[in-house]
Amino acid sequence: MTEHNLIQTLNDALGWELRAANMYAHYAANIRGIHRLQLSPMFTDEATESTMHADIVRKAIVKLGGVPVTERNPHEIIHTTQYGEMLVHSLETETKAAAVYAAIMIELESVGDQDLYDAIEQIYLAELRSLEELRLLMG
Ligand SMILES: [Fe+2]
Ligand SMILES: [Fe+2]
Repeated sequence: MTEHNLIQTLNDALGWELRAANMYAHYAANIRGIHRLQLSPMFTDEATESTMHADIVRKAIVKLGGVPVTERNPHEIIHTTQYGEMLVHSLETETKAAAVYAAIMIELESVGDQDLYDAIEQIYLAELRSLEELRLLMG
């Protein structure tokens, strides 16, 4: 694994986090009905968490000598006001995030940067917690 590939994979994760922050903020604002009471704050928390993850990944890219992306991943953010659809798209997003971080952890095993490995592992575990929470929410 070259550092160039690692920077590319980290940039892939950064693009997904920027997209996630955007999507969750959009859903927090657009959700309608009684579930807005609980899910709007949850989506806002997820948007904040995605922004925090993006910040960690961005700084890691700079530290490695790379240039962080400024555009979000282009995967379409589906507009809806229905909580059920939002949960489906959230599950898709968290599944993708967990997969990207799992790939980064495998790459980092051959790099030997323990600090970065620990930071990425913490993010990965946070994505898994979100995934599990979404699965429970969806019954
Ligand atoms: Fe994240
Ligand atoms: Fe997430």
